[in-house]
Amino acid sequence: MSLQRFSKAAALLLLVQSAFAFTQPNMAFTRTSTSLSMSSADAAAKQSYNNIFVAGGSRGVGRHIISAVRAQFPESKITALVRSDEAVEELSKIENVNAVQGDAFDCKMVEGTIDGCDAVISTLGGTAAGEEGKRVDYEGNNNVIEAAGILGVTRVVLVTSIGCGDSQDAIPPSAYEVLKDALAAKTRAENVLIKYYTNTNWTIIRPGGLKSEPKTGTAVVTEDKSVVGSIHREDVAELVVKALTSPNSMRKILSAVDPELMEVEKSQIDIFELN
Ligand SMILES: NC(=O)c1ccc[n+]([C@@H]2O[C@H](COP(=O)([O-])OP(=O)(O)OC[C@H]3O[C@@H](n4cnc5c(N)ncnc54)[C@H](OP(=O)(O)O)[C@@H]3O)[C@@H](O)[C@H]2O)c1
Repeated sequence: MSLQRFSKAAALLLLVQSAFAFTQPNMAFTRTSTSLSMSSADAAAKQSYNNIFVAGGSRGVGRHIISAVRAQFPESKITALVRSDEAVEELSKIENVNAVQGDAFDCKMVEGTIDGCDAVISTLGGTAAGEEGKRVDYEGNNNVIEAAGILGVTRVVLVTSIGCGDSQDAIPPSAYEVLKDALAAKTRAENVLIKYYTNTNWTIIRPGGLKSEPKTGTAVVTEDKSVVGSIHREDVAELVVKALTSPNSMRKILSAVDPELMEVEKSQIDIFELN
């Protein structure tokens, strides 16, 4: 990478990090437990799953999700769709993990890989690809959502980002400007799930700025769409796996941040307890 490109990338990273580090000052944080009436569909979701499909499991949050599923549901199988030889090799060494090599842009490939699974998690994200500038944030996630719908897989957890949909105002306009293509693509994927998959028990988790450090165990989710902050990837994974089997997370859009990482005073976060 040339120095100029590096500087641009570094500046972008700083801008994104500062955007996600932005918090609301002078507030205390509170816990509220959200009690919802549990439908039979919700009750059915309070279960472990036999075969959990993970898209994005080669690295980052997705890779931590595979470890968290292994730790919490050792009997469950994991089917991971990954692109690289290295990822196939690494994941294939893990018990109960079936690493399938393929591209999320390939809808038939995605459908074939999800076939036989009973829950789906996607952390897909990336830069624009090809001449048309297609984004896996929309196209790949849309393929996963559609395939789940076609195959009757009713549990879907989609990881997007703070700044999507009705959380746009949580991040400063300058940062939104930098991230807008990815956020718009992720928002489109969210909307497919929300508007068209009415029989699906979906949960959307929108993390704040991600850091690759060990889990703190203090990260939370909230329905407050104005919250923004940072969170470690491993903590996002823990929350995603907890949400997977939490009936009260069904059809919820939850922002994920770590109050302990907030730089200004502790934010007031109306914490959503996953249960
Ligand atoms: N960076 C942040 O601060 C931030 C903040 C909020 C939300 N997010 C979002 O949170 C999610 C997790 O982020 P992360 O940084 O931990 O993960 P990441 O490094 O962005 O990883 C994205 C995953 O998607 C996979 N992927 C991309 N294109 C694919 C394709 N065409 N087919 C199959 N797999 C494909 C990648 O596989 P390969 O290894 O093959 O590339 C990788 O496993 C992402 O959606 C990200 O956009 C990021």
